Amino acid sequence: MQELKERIRREGQILSETVLKVDSFLNHQVDTELALRIGREFGQRFGGRGVTKVLTVEASGIQFAMAAGIALRVPFVYAKKKKAITQGEAVYAAPVYSFTRREAYQISIAEKYLGPSDRVLIVDDFLATGAALVGLADIVERSGAVLVGVGCVIEKSFQEGRFLLEERGIEVCSLARIVSMKPGEVQFAGEECN
Ligand code: G4P
Ligand code: NA
Ligand code: NA
Repeated sequence: MQELKERIRREGQILSETVLKVDSFLNHQVDTELALRIGREFGQRFGGRGVTKVLTVEASGIQFAMAAGIALRVPFVYAKKKKAITQGEAVYAAPVYSFTRREAYQISIAEKYLGPSDRVLIVDDFLATGAALVGLADIVERSGAVLVGVGCVIEKSFQEGRFLLEERGIEVCSLARIVSMKPGEVQFAGEECN
């Protein structure tokens, strides 16, 4: 997505060779119009595939899952990272190991919001190590729903997330694929969305 790549070049802060800060438009302050256009891109890629639900993990996947849900005219559900306050509710849960925080946490979705009649599109802001997305894919599989694909806004192709998802036969579409970066220079892959 050309607009997104330009925005990353213009406003992205490269904190190291592996960490990109896009706080000004993507995941702290959010450019709402851009978020809606991102949703439309996912809608174009995954439209006509019978998607019934968009899934993400809180927090910064939410605005893009909502935008994709608007484009596809389906609800979105976000997995929670904390135990729900409503005790006794049946949930699908999966452990996720965060490499940045060096600790494991749980993600969970209420069973009533995901089942065998669903066809799911997973959406997130970053595809990095893929830990959270693999956990979400596990939840989808356990629910009996069909996983149509994963859509990510920014993929860091030099990390293993895409590999781990593709290894499971999951289709991955990223709107900006970064192959390398250093201050003042972001290198994108020629191909996006495959
Ligand atoms: P992941 O690939 O499954 O997301 O796991 P990883 O452990 O690699 O990343 C941990 C968190 O850091 C994730 O957010 C992820 O989106 C975010 N992240 C990874 N690389 C970058 C980066 O280069 N820049 C920015 N800004 N974020 C990055 P999270 O813990 O799920 O939390 P949230 O931000 O969605 O609340
Ligand atoms: Na995220
Ligand atoms: Na994040």
